[in-house]
Amino acid sequence: MTANDAAAVPVDTSRPHPARVYDWWLGGKDNYPVDEELARRILAVDGTVVRGARANRRFMHRAVRAAAEAGIRQFLDIGTGIPTEPNLHQVAQRIAPESKVVYADNDPIVLRHAQALLHGSAEGTTDYVHADVRDPGRILESAGRSLDFARPVALSLVALTHYLDEAADGDDVYGLLGRYVDALAPGSFLILSQVTPDLNPAAIERAAGLFARSGTPFHPRTLAEFSRFFDGLELLGPGVIPVSGWRPDPEDVAAQAEGIVPVYAGVARKP
Ligand SMILES: C[S@@+](CC[C@H](N)C(=O)[O-])C[C@H]1O[C@@H](n2cnc3c(N)ncnc32)[C@H](O)[C@@H]1O
Repeated sequence: MTANDAAAVPVDTSRPHPARVYDWWLGGKDNYPVDEELARRILAVDGTVVRGARANRRFMHRAVRAAAEAGIRQFLDIGTGIPTEPNLHQVAQRIAPESKVVYADNDPIVLRHAQALLHGSAEGTTDYVHADVRDPGRILESAGRSLDFARPVALSLVALTHYLDEAADGDDVYGLLGRYVDALAPGSFLILSQVTPDLNPAAIERAAGLFARSGTPFHPRTLAEFSRFFDGLELLGPGVIPVSGWRPDPEDVAAQAEGIVPVYAGVARKP
């Protein structure tokens, strides 16, 4: 299903959705009262969550910039979220206008707004796939219509893996990530971030409980659990680190002064 089929997928406004809750934290307008209510309840137990969302979004910008500066010209972004400028293709195409970007998300509201992701540079391409990350066959096949998997691709799952919970739905999350990495050519990048319980376990446990009770499994991961996603890959400096510390811009340094947010980030290269 592509961005043109948006009207065919109903948006459920009776329960909160992660993309819309995150949109509320980012100050967006594409959320409903149920999303705002959960966003506020989580903010009440974890006061870092708005700073965390912003820091995470800025990490995506820096990681994509690093990939583009390293010569990557193809991007597959899974768990894209509601468009928030600059979007990934804008960051990549600012550096290399010929960059090709494929977005994938399973939320109908992201599909509704996907047209905004499809206006890229004249030289490059952008595409959108409405699909679940748990369906790598479908995402890789659809992405293969515009990306050449014989050449390096930057695969990003930014703030997505904490919604994948082995205990709740029996997923083998490491095996799933492995399916994607296996499809990538040497020289490809893997860009990841996700929430951790390491820094403030009590607050994160309560936030995870609120997500889970709303119908969204939530699995924070420790440093060791998160780092395992990069097994077999070469981590770029500075390695796996709290998100604002990953190759920070001056605004990230300033944000860190307000306190570290409980989100890990890392970027690795496939040898
Ligand atoms: C917190 S947002 C992150 C958005 C963006 N990557 C960023 O970091 O700014 C998580 C996104 O993952 C999407 N998502 C959650 N579970 C998913 C799944 N199983 N398959 C595809 N997308 C999923 C949500 O719809 C949401 O848009």
